[in-house]
Amino acid sequence: MGRTSRIEGFYKLSMSERLKIVKEFGDLTSEEALALTGFGGLDPSIPDKMIENAVGSFALPLGIAVNFTINGRDYLIPMAVEEPSVVAAASNAAKMARDKGGFWTSSTPPVMIGQVQITGVKDPSRAKHLLLAKKDAVLELANKQDPMLIKLGGGARDLEVRVVQGQRGPMVVVHLLVDVRDAMGANAVNTMAEAVAPMLEDITGGQVRLRILSNLATHRLARAHAVWAKESIGGDEVVDGIIDAFLFADADPFRCATHNKGIMNGIDAIILATGNDTRAIEAGAHSYAARTGQYKPLTVFEKTPEGDLAGTIEIPMAVGLIGGATKVHPTARACIKLLGVKGASELGEVAAAVGLAQNFAALRALATVGIQKGHMKLHAKNIAASVGCPEELLDEVCEIMVSEKKIRMDRAQEIIEDLKNRKR
Ligand code: MEV
Repeated sequence: MGRTSRIEGFYKLSMSERLKIVKEFGDLTSEEALALTGFGGLDPSIPDKMIENAVGSFALPLGIAVNFTINGRDYLIPMAVEEPSVVAAASNAAKMARDKGGFWTSSTPPVMIGQVQITGVKDPSRAKHLLLAKKDAVLELANKQDPMLIKLGGGARDLEVRVVQGQRGPMVVVHLLVDVRDAMGANAVNTMAEAVAPMLEDITGGQVRLRILSNLATHRLARAHAVWAKESIGGDEVVDGIIDAFLFADADPFRCATHNKGIMNGIDAIILATGNDTRAIEAGAHSYAARTGQYKPLTVFEKTPEGDLAGTIEIPMAVGLIGGATKVHPTARACIKLLGVKGASELGEVAAAVGLAQNFAALRALATVGIQKGHMKLHAKNIAASVGCPEELLDEVCEIMVSEKKIRMDRAQEIIEDLKNRKR
């Protein structure tokens, strides 16, 4: 039996008590545990290596979602996020999923698409035919660019050719399909796309314009599935409420945008914590949601024959474990170690499970008590802190604001003054 992520009352502990548990769970060194706290900040040399014109680093809260069981193994999930309730909601959804065994996941091989745009082709259909006939030569040239990737079992696998109608006429668009293994893949794919461009011009007689990875990573999908027992989530009415909430998103793009945003609350938080590219994941998620021409939810909720709630997510997942911030950022490195993932696909699957949990939690709250109840306490804390509430008055000020349902800066200031006067 492995380590358990089911940690009763984790939220009630102090930050240092939580860190101790996390350190033990992830077999982290003291240095790695310190990196999780972010205290002391990044070594000043790191930001300067990561981006241009660096002046420092920007800290965000890092929380740990507990209770996750994924494919029979327990995980503690690092989440970097500024929004209150996200970590608590994910943990709570994961706790309720445990009764039916937690989350089950799968993924496709890590194949990314490199696009090459060719304009000015006289006979696009014939060019398509010629390109496909010369596929092996194109793939061979692509694979010469990255011997390391080939050694690791990856490489350019296939070619797709599309004729896309633009306003200035048709263009031939070549998709180079590249298995990028444990990388996010942008570097490998862009290098290959640039390298094969002259050959594609020779074959088609056209002019190559863009050579760049597509974030609509339809060949690199992660899936997660979970069943929530109706007794664990509040009964038949809650199951029906969540299904109605899903059907609302399925039928209406205005609701669907918020539905998918709730999914990304969880996914972005783990993606950021592991030093991955949140914009790539966001672009992939939303374009995948719209791939049929209609913007749709990334999750599906249904009732099982037993009347329980089954949830599924399918989402492009271009994440890496090598290169970029995943290697140079000490907190990202410690988060990856805490997750204990063996490869990028496993990380993608865990992220998908977190997205599903996050979505379930939001829909359950929306279909029952509403979203504000869960938000209130931490929101009140934020508001009180933002008007300079002294530490010793914080709990009292929050309690009063929550009980009055008036969580506003002006009210916080009044209460603080009141309490100070009374204590004088
Ligand atoms: C807030 O960050 C996310 C939610 O709006 C998601 C949803 O409405 O499903 C609560």
